[in-house]
Amino acid sequence: MKQLLVVTGGGDCPGLNAVIRAIVKRSSREKDWRILGSIEAFNGILREPEEIVILDEKTVAGIHFQGGTILQTTNVGGPFAWPEQQPDGSWTTRDRSVEMINKIRSLGIEGVINIGGDGSQRISNRLRELGLNIIGVPKTIDNDLSATDTTFGFQTAIQVATEAVDKLVTTAASHNRVFILEVMGRDAGWIAMHAAVAGGAEICLIPEIPYHLDKVMERIESRFTGGRGFAIIVAAEGARPAGGSVSAIQTHEAGNEHIRLGGLANRLAHDLQQAGCLHSIRVTVLGHLQRGGVPVAYDRILASRFGVKAFEMAASGAWGKMVSYRHPEVTAVPLPEAIREPKLVKAADDLLSTARGLGISFGD
Ligand code: F6P
Repeated sequence: MKQLLVVTGGGDCPGLNAVIRAIVKRSSREKDWRILGSIEAFNGILREPEEIVILDEKTVAGIHFQGGTILQTTNVGGPFAWPEQQPDGSWTTRDRSVEMINKIRSLGIEGVINIGGDGSQRISNRLRELGLNIIGVPKTIDNDLSATDTTFGFQTAIQVATEAVDKLVTTAASHNRVFILEVMGRDAGWIAMHAAVAGGAEICLIPEIPYHLDKVMERIESRFTGGRGFAIIVAAEGARPAGGSVSAIQTHEAGNEHIRLGGLANRLAHDLQQAGCLHSIRVTVLGHLQRGGVPVAYDRILASRFGVKAFEMAASGAWGKMVSYRHPEVTAVPLPEAIREPKLVKAADDLLSTARGLGISFGD
């Protein structure tokens, strides 16, 4: 009996369960495979006793439309930085990667499928360098991985963000207000830009294009000719003013490689008022609503394609790669290539031209 271990790591994302289900369903069409799942990313393997579950067709029945992950996840710690509390209460981290690989081997596990975003795939690549049989499956609502055309979860996130714009338009128009909708997007403005185009916003602020307050004011005013009007601003959480810094709620959560972003929309509302904007301004922060809940059909399909492909790669011994979507095919790229660079909005991007063509201001 060959055993494969499935792990979900990093922030959750609509479609994770559809990947897990597809791996299990595809494996059940072959003889002699058992699929195991580690609870809470790699923590399930690292804990004593281990928290590992058997994933069979019964376990995964009907989970393709459930949000979250039945395996649970975490975006703190991991095999290279296992958090340990010291007697004085402070935290340090310990590298447990070699110990973990030995544990995986001693359990008779052939290899691992690691479903996760950029941080998780960097872990995949380091484990590959240490000799572990591993396959990555890309996951992020931000869609900021350059080695794949798109990731599951992204369509669900932009649907949620677009519906939010649609709702804000009606209340903004009724009250002659400016609304600022803060959406996710740490380094990349894809969610913001897609929602701005789909929802018909006037202003879109993204991490890749630092904004100038006077330009934002100008576009707002253009919407209030004759006194009445309204304006919708969609702003990615990672957007920042030219010469300024990102808005953070917290510098570092213990064990998390990222600062916790948040506060941009409120800061912008404040700055606009300070700069003399007399219109009534309201702020909506969409937050984790973009990540939770039922995946849209597109994401379920992409996730299912990724899961089937990941199992087939494992069964044929194609380790050390990440599943990737290159329209119209699901293919694979070597892990070092998969993590080389993020996918950010570039000046030449077609959707950026479309947005500008529609009159959307990026505050530049
Ligand atoms: O990477 C996806 C993402 O949604 C980012 O856009 C966001 O900054 C981050 O996750 C928030 O993650 P959490 O609150 O779970 O730490």
